[in-house]
Amino acid sequence: MESSLPLTIDRAAGLPLHLQLAEQFRAAVLDGRLQAGHRLPSTRDLARDLSVSRSVTQAAYDQLHAEGWIEGRIGAGTFVTDVVPLQPAVRRHTPHLANPDAELLTLRPGIPYIAPAPDPGWRRAWREVSTQSPPRGYDDAAGLPALRAALADHVGRVRGIACGPENVLVTNGTVHGLRLLLTVTRQAGDRIAIEDPGYLNAVVAARDHRLEIVDVPVDEDGLQVDALTDDATAVYVTPSHQYPLGGRLPVARRNELIRWARRTGAQLIEDDYDSEFRYDVAPLPALAQLDLERVVHLGTLSKTLSPALRLGWLVASEETVDRLATFRANSGDWPGWPMQAALLAMLRDGYLDQAVRRGRRLYADRRTHTVAALSPYGQVIGQDAGLHVTLLLPDDADDLRIAAAARQAGVVVAPLSEYRRSVPGPPGLVIGYATPSTSDLHRALTILTEVLSRR
Ligand SMILES: Cc1ncc(COP(=O)(O)O)c(C=O)c1O
Repeated sequence: MESSLPLTIDRAAGLPLHLQLAEQFRAAVLDGRLQAGHRLPSTRDLARDLSVSRSVTQAAYDQLHAEGWIEGRIGAGTFVTDVVPLQPAVRRHTPHLANPDAELLTLRPGIPYIAPAPDPGWRRAWREVSTQSPPRGYDDAAGLPALRAALADHVGRVRGIACGPENVLVTNGTVHGLRLLLTVTRQAGDRIAIEDPGYLNAVVAARDHRLEIVDVPVDEDGLQVDALTDDATAVYVTPSHQYPLGGRLPVARRNELIRWARRTGAQLIEDDYDSEFRYDVAPLPALAQLDLERVVHLGTLSKTLSPALRLGWLVASEETVDRLATFRANSGDWPGWPMQAALLAMLRDGYLDQAVRRGRRLYADRRTHTVAALSPYGQVIGQDAGLHVTLLLPDDADDLRIAAAARQAGVVVAPLSEYRRSVPGPPGLVIGYATPSTSDLHRALTILTEVLSRR
């Protein structure tokens, strides 16, 4: 074959080089580019062609040999065998397909800006963790007691929720907390009201638990509480910044929602995902501040530090937290000690507060720029808070087509119709301004507005 096969090496792919080579050989045999009996270059020649060390090509050949794809013939070289080995059931990792969006600029909502270099507060927390031995036994299934206490202080201070450690459960984030809650407190067939348009992962969680989903309309202020029907046993709601339209549920509606839940006995699930970020507007009380018996509050680090941490918290009545912790004690499904210990250090040192303050300053400017850039193309809503805005487009616009055209031009945005279920409403684009660097955000908006003006 003597290098007729286009082999590539991607040193940034995070997959060992010999595995990358082996994977590409296998693919070439399976799709017929390499036929049985084909002679392969020597490991030395291949290494020279690809500018890798010979140990890499040797390891790739050893692997393929062990799997039966190739065979050595003494004095003649290495050849492709005529028996195609059984493919493993699980698709192998293909480095060049790992992230097809890697080259695109993303304005999808949901991910904060993460600076390329870690800052001192972050490093300090992890250094501290690294100097401690792990605990001897299994940790408390509700979370480290000291962390639960620190989180109770935190949500008391920043969200006004009066609670103690007994009301807090450490989670792997919002969706983890939501799924645990549904598993333990809901039964198949229960009706759950979910905002429409709304957060798809919440819908998927409800479907997986075989709950009956009631689509509740949303307006510019958030959930339309007067549209709730009394047969719902739970309501999933994003009061601080309705996802994705961005309304902030006014106090009167919050009170109305609490009154409704007290009357019907329904559970209110408050997803507080990006409440840390609001701009030039007064804070509104968390639902959980109004009634911790009726409300289960879900908080996350995904918007303030990183979704990759998989850390968050659930705040609820002591009885609910106990039930969830008992279930978890049997499942072993809670965040590991190093993550919890690091978060504890970050809370104690004020690192989380500092990251939020920094984020607010950064995002406030970006939001202003984003709103200014998009305003000529439709109504920009949801701009008082959070990390994204929504651009409402004229009724005859096709948001799926516009999102596809934007992607063609190099920018990923989320079409609003992706979030809609049965409640009709205008098309639009949900545009996150947090993820890219500021210069990439400007570039992406220039491209997007060109696409919009061509519509
Ligand atoms: C509405 C909403 N809630 C919660 C989250 C965060 O989920 P998690 O904490 O599981 O990362 C997101 C992330 O995009 C979201 O959009």
